[in-house]
Amino acid sequence: MGKSRESGRIEQEIEKLREQLNEHNYHYYVLDDPVISDAEYDRLFEKLKILESQRPDLVTPDSPTQRVGAPPLKEFAEVKHEIPMLSLENAFVPDDITAFDQRIHDRLETSSPIEYCCEPKLDGLAMSIRYENGLLVQAATRGDGATGEDVTENIKTIKMVPLRLRGDNIPRILEVRGEVFMSKSGFDKLNSLAQKKGEKIFANPRNAAAGSVRQLDSQITASRPLEIYCYGVGLVEGYKLPDKHSDILKRLSHWGLRVSSLVEVVKGADGCLTYYQHMSHKREKLPYEIDGVVYKVNDIALQEKLGFVSRAPRWAIAHKFPAEEVNTIIEAVEFQVGRTGALTPVARLKPVRVHGVTVSNATLHNMDEIQRKDIHVGDTVIVRRAGDVIPEVAGVVRKLRPGSAKKIILPTHCPVCRSAVEHVEGEAVARCTGGLFCAAQRKETIKHFASRRAMDIEGLGDKLVEQLVDTRLIESVADIYDLTQTQLENLERMGEKSAQKLLEQIEKSKSTTYARFLYALGIREVGEATAKALANHFRTLQALQSATEEDLQSVPDIGPVVAAHIAHFFQERHNRDIISKLINAGVHWPLIKESNHLPLSGKTFVITGTLSNMSRDEAKERLEKLGAKVAGSVSAKTSYVVVGVDPGSKYDKARELGIPILDDKQFHAFLNKF
Ligand code: IVH
Repeated sequence: MGKSRESGRIEQEIEKLREQLNEHNYHYYVLDDPVISDAEYDRLFEKLKILESQRPDLVTPDSPTQRVGAPPLKEFAEVKHEIPMLSLENAFVPDDITAFDQRIHDRLETSSPIEYCCEPKLDGLAMSIRYENGLLVQAATRGDGATGEDVTENIKTIKMVPLRLRGDNIPRILEVRGEVFMSKSGFDKLNSLAQKKGEKIFANPRNAAAGSVRQLDSQITASRPLEIYCYGVGLVEGYKLPDKHSDILKRLSHWGLRVSSLVEVVKGADGCLTYYQHMSHKREKLPYEIDGVVYKVNDIALQEKLGFVSRAPRWAIAHKFPAEEVNTIIEAVEFQVGRTGALTPVARLKPVRVHGVTVSNATLHNMDEIQRKDIHVGDTVIVRRAGDVIPEVAGVVRKLRPGSAKKIILPTHCPVCRSAVEHVEGEAVARCTGGLFCAAQRKETIKHFASRRAMDIEGLGDKLVEQLVDTRLIESVADIYDLTQTQLENLERMGEKSAQKLLEQIEKSKSTTYARFLYALGIREVGEATAKALANHFRTLQALQSATEEDLQSVPDIGPVVAAHIAHFFQERHNRDIISKLINAGVHWPLIKESNHLPLSGKTFVITGTLSNMSRDEAKERLEKLGAKVAGSVSAKTSYVVVGVDPGSKYDKARELGIPILDDKQFHAFLNKF
């Protein structure tokens, strides 16, 4: 008896604490009018945690303690949006807005002024949060508008997102649409912490917000200062919404959802433009970034009449602010090496605030851009930042150039791996030639090496390559052949059997063809066809490695640029070392026979239509093994055209030119002769 009274008391106490905490959250985040101190809030929260630990059976999913704690996910599930998440048409100048207002008048065939609801356009990511009978059940990203990702656990960690709606008349289903974003100060704090820990720095608050929401581990999201403003609804059932958009927003706020206090209802295009002016003055002082304002026809019945065009509503428009520009000084220029070896010059700037965000780096794109804009180290430059793009240097203030200004010089060696840098004439981008060796290019090189059309190592997919590189088990493609059963078994999501299977596949890949091997090396612009041409021409690796650019250009279809890429690749000692390691590990291929002696050498085939019993790739391979060339288009030089089911225009062309045609059956008989 006493026990059950005690239990009832705890139950009531828990209920009361939850109500109090939810109410304080609402005052703090939605009304922006806290009634208790942070310390008092924490005390109530701790008390609830203790009581819930005594009575785990009373823990409910909407308890304020249940925002974190879900185990990390393997991947996000897909969420189909019953009502698509649309985007907005953009406007930049006042004329765009008068034209927008005019279009609306025309469509509605009315001359009375239109009422618009004006809202700040937040720079974050769109979210759809679904409440069923008041309980938060799902949160999804916009994705492509039709299907997004299920980020429920992550969104639940945002304290200003109610886990249960408050107030009366709660709909059976309510999908709230809003923008998740990071404040300027939250972003600065996050980045300075990341810098201290040597972690990834986010380019801007938008990227930081998106990166934080797309975390598989909600504990990480919980540590990020995310916020939300709600600006609309998706599916609503079991409640008749008000017939004005501005009243819907008020209703959302009544249910405990955070809505911007900067929303205003105005009349006509003039009203919109006044709002725009007002917000552009306010913008700098706002604690978060906005990249414009949004105007929405306020009357829902009119919205419905206006409808949509492609993926944007006709009744709304985003009026964007121009990109902000400020002056600062280039203190240094560094070169970053990308995944494909491209060297990008990055200006280290004297830090400046643009749109309230501190900018200390700007991309200079490539050497041609530097020359075109005549940029020097020491120059005062105009830095521009528009929305989510990486800051860039818009131009130089020439008259402020100091005598000590220095020319920017492309390094001769890669700043990551010290391999030679190539800058082929006519190409904007300079690249590191140490493709097989360079740490910056490691992951891409290894993924390509293992891929089906290259060394064809089944089971060594992109994810596993990333894991192997991240855990430092492999640094170059040669290390693949040193992997051991124990190393593989110790990896996450890898069992004894799959490790064994992978090792078998790695072993199998050692026996390959010369052309596949050359393609697998990932030499710039050397695709399968070029690799085959190289293999046929230089029948040994030694011959190819010592070929000059001139020798290389004598191969059909190899021009000066590709020849330069190939020569530079083999000139790089780092690459040659790795190739030797691969050969020593046992990678081998059958010797290429002198192609003149092959039965079909000198003959060119074109294949069109679908063949029975054989894919086009197989047919191609069979023909090439016999010394033939397989071309993509019919010309007077074509020896035979092979025609399957549903042939294309190549068939007509062959007939026109009188080229011998082999149908499916004849082709099989033809191949069987050899
Ligand atoms: S309304 C049917 N209102 O801007 C209209 N969007 O460019 C759907 N955004 O995907 C959007 N603030 O992520 C709307 N007050 C606001 C907004 C807003 C930011 C974002 C939203 C949307 C994108 C469209």
